[in-house]
Formats: sequence, C-alpha cells, structure tokens
Amino acid sequence: MPPLIENNQLAKSTEPGQRLIISGRIFNLSCSEYIPDTIVDVWHADDAGTYDNEGYKLRGYTKSNAQGFYLFETILPGKYLNGSDFRPSHIHIKIKPPEFPLLTTQIYFEGDEKIAGDAAASITSGEYDATNRIITLTENEENILEGQFDIAIDGKGLTVGTQDLHLNTGMIYKAQPNPFEDSIDIHYGVFKKAKVGLVVYNMKGQQVAILEQKNMEAEKYYATWQPENSVLSGYYFIAIKINELQVHYIKVYKK
Ligand SMILES: [Fe+2]
Repeated sequence: MPPLIENNQLAKSTEPGQRLIISGRIFNLSCSEYIPDTIVDVWHADDAGTYDNEGYKLRGYTKSNAQGFYLFETILPGKYLNGSDFRPSHIHIKIKPPEFPLLTTQIYFEGDEKIAGDAAASITSGEYDATNRIITLTENEENILEGQFDIAIDGKGLTVGTQDLHLNTGMIYKAQPNPFEDSIDIHYGVFKKAKVGLVVYNMKGQQVAILEQKNMEAEKYYATWQPENSVLSGYYFIAIKINELQVHYIKVYKK
C-alpha cells in the first residue's frame, strides 16, 4: 500500500512541473448517496516522464470524505515513450469503494494531441471507453490547472468517470473570486420550481454553512458566502440541492 497523501499534497511544492489539482466526488448512479471512505490510489510520471519505481514519489492514496469528496494536488504528468510514440499525459488511478470491487483505470486531459494515437486513451465505446476519463483542465486565478473527475458507482459495482448527471434541474455557474479571501459570490441557476439548498462543506465533509434553503422559482440567482474569521483557510465544496438531491457542486479555496 502506498503512503497516505498528507495535506492533499501528492507532489511536494518543490516538485518541478505545472501544478495541478484533481478533485471529484464518488456517488451512486442516482446521486442519492455519496460514498465516503473510498480509497483513491494514484500514481503518475514526473515532469520529465519518469516513474519513481523505488520509492513513492508521486504515488499515494487519499480517501473520499463523509460527502464523497476527494482532492489531491500534484503536477501535470510528463509524457513518456511507448514504442515509437509518446503516451498522452495520464494519471493511473485505483478506486476502491467499501463493499465494491477495485477498479484500476487512467485519466487523460482534454486537448492532449497524443490521445488520438494512444491505444488505451482513444477507445470510445465498450467496457474500456475512455471518453468520460478525458477530463477538462482549467487554469485558476493562481495559474494552477484544475480538473474534476467524478465517479459514479452502478448496481454491479462498476465505477465510471462521469460528468453532469443532473444538470437538467439546477447548477452552479461560477464562484468568484476563487481563491477568495473574505467573501465569495456564487452564481447559480434553478431550472424548475423546487426546494433549493446551497450548502458549504469542508474537506472532512462537514457542513459549515447554509447559504440558501427555500422554495424557489426557475431563475438565475446569486448568493454570497462571507465566512466568519474562525473558518480556516483551505478547500471547501459548495453544493446545490434540488429537492434534497445534491445535483452539482463547485470547489473553492479560502486563503
Ligand atoms: Fe503510465
């Protein structure tokens, strides 16, 4: 077993390369349940495309919290030669939810020109379909790349990368500024009249604030989170609930 990732830092701050944050949520297919204590074991090549085969540099595991969230900070993996061509940048990942079988897979990054020529990354149908494992990276205001990899578990215990399962009922458009210091504005939309909640969770999955909770018409809204001084610096997840189902979330960082 590789070491537990301390402080969400898979790569030390001194590790060369483009900083990258991967986060996501583990839930059942209906999204009615979030799966805590899922082991997410990751490893990848360094910026030069080399694996540490002796120690555990750029390898470790984390666990999803009480709300099913996980997060780790690392660097964008370098590319290495496979035969005569380079493999796309990728992260190996083993996912082990409690009471479900282990799944071993890889994630890739949208726009990588090596995906099309890669035997594993270019599969677009069947059991090994990589489509939902090619994730979009966006650059945050501190020039760190961020990607989201959500994992839905179906009744057979299979796990798949997935995105945007319930965005027909409501979603969070943006939260800004992010990272923030004193207060953050959350813009969101409700697509049909419903009981709506906007809730903030910390990295342990504990609820730290309720920003909104009432019946709302279909409309665009915004809310402001201005945490008290006692709220610690770190990552938080803000989720929108439509009729008690958390349908979308956004990750924010409080400085
Ligand atoms: Fe690899």
